[in-house]
Amino acid sequence: MKKTIIIKVSKENPEPDKIRIAADIIRRGGLVAFPTETVYGLGADALNPDAVKEIYAAKMRPPDNPIIVHIARKEDVYKLAVDIPKSGEKLIDIFWPGPLTLVLKASNIVPRVTTGGLDTIAIRMPKHEVALALIREAGRPIAAPSANLAGRPSPTLAEHVLQDLFGRIDAILDAGPTNIGVESTVLDLSCNPPQILRPGGVTYEDLKAVLGEVSIHPAAVAKSEVHIERTRSPGMKYKHYAPKAEMLVVEGELKSVIMKVRELAKYYIEAGKKVGILATDESMKEYNLGIVKSMGSRNNLASVARNLFKLLRELDNEGVDLIIAEGLPQENLGLAVMNRLRKAASYNIINV
Ligand code: TXA
Ligand code: MG
Repeated sequence: MKKTIIIKVSKENPEPDKIRIAADIIRRGGLVAFPTETVYGLGADALNPDAVKEIYAAKMRPPDNPIIVHIARKEDVYKLAVDIPKSGEKLIDIFWPGPLTLVLKASNIVPRVTTGGLDTIAIRMPKHEVALALIREAGRPIAAPSANLAGRPSPTLAEHVLQDLFGRIDAILDAGPTNIGVESTVLDLSCNPPQILRPGGVTYEDLKAVLGEVSIHPAAVAKSEVHIERTRSPGMKYKHYAPKAEMLVVEGELKSVIMKVRELAKYYIEAGKKVGILATDESMKEYNLGIVKSMGSRNNLASVARNLFKLLRELDNEGVDLIIAEGLPQENLGLAVMNRLRKAASYNIINV
């Protein structure tokens, strides 16, 4: 077991001495969890294969699921990737720092363990002062998947990281809750038109406005499990975001959704199950059974994105056997939210 040190740090003005402690650990090949604008990441020196191997071990992550590399200066993309298309440069200009990860052709300084054996690399520049300060002070790119055990909901609070990884990592920089709450958008630029492999903080609509044409990988919008070709985005094939409880998503028009959720909740509660309901501000008052939590407002999907993973963990901690979630519109951040909800429910979807 490792001794995990917890370092509280200011979100806006991270204290240099604290960042130095964390950066030293990274330079020595250790593991540091840190906040980004999306979720907490579990960082290691991206160019040190032994350090990156430790990430896979700590998370119990399958070795063929590649890791996103984080940089603090846009120019550094040219050290890690080659043959960057014009469209990529335009996206970097507009969306970095921010929740957009670009899949590019890897340069030869990138260890294959970082890319899960692929010849492409996923890179992003996070929009968070703590993440940027850590990368700068470490003086090298930082490989960081979400800082949860493989398969669990991504961490939006330092407490979530500690629940999963205490004793398995060297340190955590705790700067409070993350802003966006779902992970970055993963965009593959090695194909034409560019393809969204994972919807996230930068929306399809945002990308389309810049690129003209963007496709979405069928798995990212699927309502049931799809076969994934190994070479495109290995991460998509694994179980994800799963709470310990069984989970169902009810999709359709709101009125019918409410009726169905009520019926299901009543049925399972009568059968002796402890039921959690993930509702919205607009529908909360319609339920008088089970443990009801609002994900946020239907008119503010950013609030839903921010709360989602936290609520899945809360319901688990309250020991529910079953979570019934309302489906949401797939516009803007709703696409990322529905992708996470459906996966969390292992595609147990009821259409009404
Ligand atoms: O917001 C985020 O992206 C967070 C923060 C910490 O930056 N990171 C994150 O990492 O969500 P992770 O490892 O949980 O998800 C990375 C995703 C996986 O689906 C992985 O398969 C995909 O990116 N990916 C990484 N490298 C890839 C590559 N070369 N080609 C295709 N997909 C790749
Ligand atoms: Mg993850």
